[in-house]
Amino acid sequence: MQHRRVKITDTTLRDGHQSLWATRMRTEDMLPIAEKLDKIGYHSLEVWGGATFDVCLRYLYEDPWERLRSIKSVVKNTPLQMLLRGQSLVGYTHYPDDIVEAFVHKAVENGIDIIRIFDALNDVRNMEVAIKATKAAGGHAQATVCYTVSPVHTIENYLQTAEQLAEMGADSICIKDMAGLLAPYRAYELVKLYKEKIGLPVQLHCHYIGGMAVGAYLKAIEAGVDIIDTASVPLAFGASQPPVETVVRALKSTPYDTGLSLRALFEVADYFEKLRKEYGKERGVTRINDMKVFDHQVPGGMITNLVSQLEEQKALHRLNEVLEEIPVVREELGYPPLVTPTSQIVGTQAVLNVLTGERYKLIPGEVRAYVQGLYGEPPGTIDPAVSRRVLGDKEMISCRPADLLEPKLDKLREEIKDLAKSEEDVISYALFPQIARRFMQARERGELAAKAEAEKMKKAAQKGKETSKQSATKEGNKVNIKELQELIKIINNTDISEISLESDGVKVAIKKGTKQRAEDAAVSAPEVTDAAAIEEKPAAEPQKEVQEAEKKAEIQDKDLETVTAPMVGTFYRAPAPDADPFVEIGQSVEAGQTLCIIEAMKLMNEIEAEFPGEIVDILVENGQPVEYGQPLFMIRKS
Ligand code: CO
Repeated sequence: MQHRRVKITDTTLRDGHQSLWATRMRTEDMLPIAEKLDKIGYHSLEVWGGATFDVCLRYLYEDPWERLRSIKSVVKNTPLQMLLRGQSLVGYTHYPDDIVEAFVHKAVENGIDIIRIFDALNDVRNMEVAIKATKAAGGHAQATVCYTVSPVHTIENYLQTAEQLAEMGADSICIKDMAGLLAPYRAYELVKLYKEKIGLPVQLHCHYIGGMAVGAYLKAIEAGVDIIDTASVPLAFGASQPPVETVVRALKSTPYDTGLSLRALFEVADYFEKLRKEYGKERGVTRINDMKVFDHQVPGGMITNLVSQLEEQKALHRLNEVLEEIPVVREELGYPPLVTPTSQIVGTQAVLNVLTGERYKLIPGEVRAYVQGLYGEPPGTIDPAVSRRVLGDKEMISCRPADLLEPKLDKLREEIKDLAKSEEDVISYALFPQIARRFMQARERGELAAKAEAEKMKKAAQKGKETSKQSATKEGNKVNIKELQELIKIINNTDISEISLESDGVKVAIKKGTKQRAEDAAVSAPEVTDAAAIEEKPAAEPQKEVQEAEKKAEIQDKDLETVTAPMVGTFYRAPAPDADPFVEIGQSVEAGQTLCIIEAMKLMNEIEAEFPGEIVDILVENGQPVEYGQPLFMIRKS
């Protein structure tokens, strides 16, 4: 048998810590090990893109471009790789082509050799500009097929997608198994097909989650896969990639021997293990809930997001209903793969369907945009009833979504002016206007180091609290604090006024009004691993306002109806600061007319009038947080 060495991409510095440490590894902790990583003999190091860009600016007060240049200055032999979300680059919305081209060009110029380009819907039109720009800049364009399981994701469908990508000029193809759903024999089938029909190098990217990834890699290798993705063991397993050490050992003395030295890999692992302890992070583990992805197909990172969304809405006890609703919504929306941003789109609609008690009663702007085709073409057909409910008389677009976007870079360059010190700064601003401006202002004032330090302290304080809470639970060994918090929430949000329970001989009675300590709630909220869930949430102090509004609501006459908030969130009278407010006091409204926006779960939810009438009062100030059930408008029915 002839020797065919399998090549390996190391993801520790990007996907590894994005999957397990909420993307929080700092550049200062990457540089000391970079030279050793360079000497391992990896095919490439994935060090940039995905959520790292956003997290650098938002939380670490680091310049992502500077990180890239620093790594490049140490890693002299191994190609550097990044992950790019097609037309969304490293953000969450589609950007105009001029921004895509400028970003890709600068990424290559600052040190990226290989750009892995994907689109959540596998809509190749969303990848084309980035592929062409990568090649024009002299980079290697790796085009990606997102793997998911659905009736429309047939082997023919995957072949067709890859063929289109090859035609666009892709230099290699990546199969991206973000949810760990690729079964070993399916991997064999898919890789064999690609190797036979496409004629490009094939790279396989699996997440470990339910444990199939190592098997998938071995079968893919037998089928001829060229490159696989792994992480150093302290940042492997669980939601991350399989460990490099396992794969290297498994292939040793076979025709596929990677040639990598286990001893050198263990030196790297020792470094990251020490770092892991310093950061106070858990090693990658698979919880049973994560493995249930095999059943409901909701990946672990997305469950984490749902948990924090539901906690925000004080409805964590309805998680199972939401998990059952997600596959239904996904089918109705034409089976999008569940990855950023479609995971948020499907997840939030499912949450709203469950919480409002009426399916598609509330439809966030993002879901409307999706159904309209503004994220690209859905893989399957959207349920006609849902489509009608969402679009009304509007037509779905048939062009490439970014064709509707005007070039914007010059305007933004004007806007940010001298605060931007380089073209890279202008691009950062184009991607994340508020966050990048805040970063550049802090830099201007020489506050970056102080801000970064403050963020570290915040984390350390949280870690301390977590540890003391855990030990309290263990020592007490009587009542699970999480369970108690759940019960308190249930009682405070339902008609039930009291629950008693006995656990290990200790009796606990919880009555309505039992106050849950805010910091407990904060600690119990799991760390979000998906980048899209890292938006800051406005702190809500709404109790007083609720009471005042309720008082106001009492003095209503018979025809007066109160419109209440269907969710916890932030009240906006218009969707954007420069847009006209929708309604004013004294104005007549039609049934179905938008009254306001409630921003919740990072989405803009339009609240519509259910009947025609006249606005008598608006009970909440623009930009104020609102609680579930809080009165928003008084409308006199006509
Ligand atoms: Co990944």
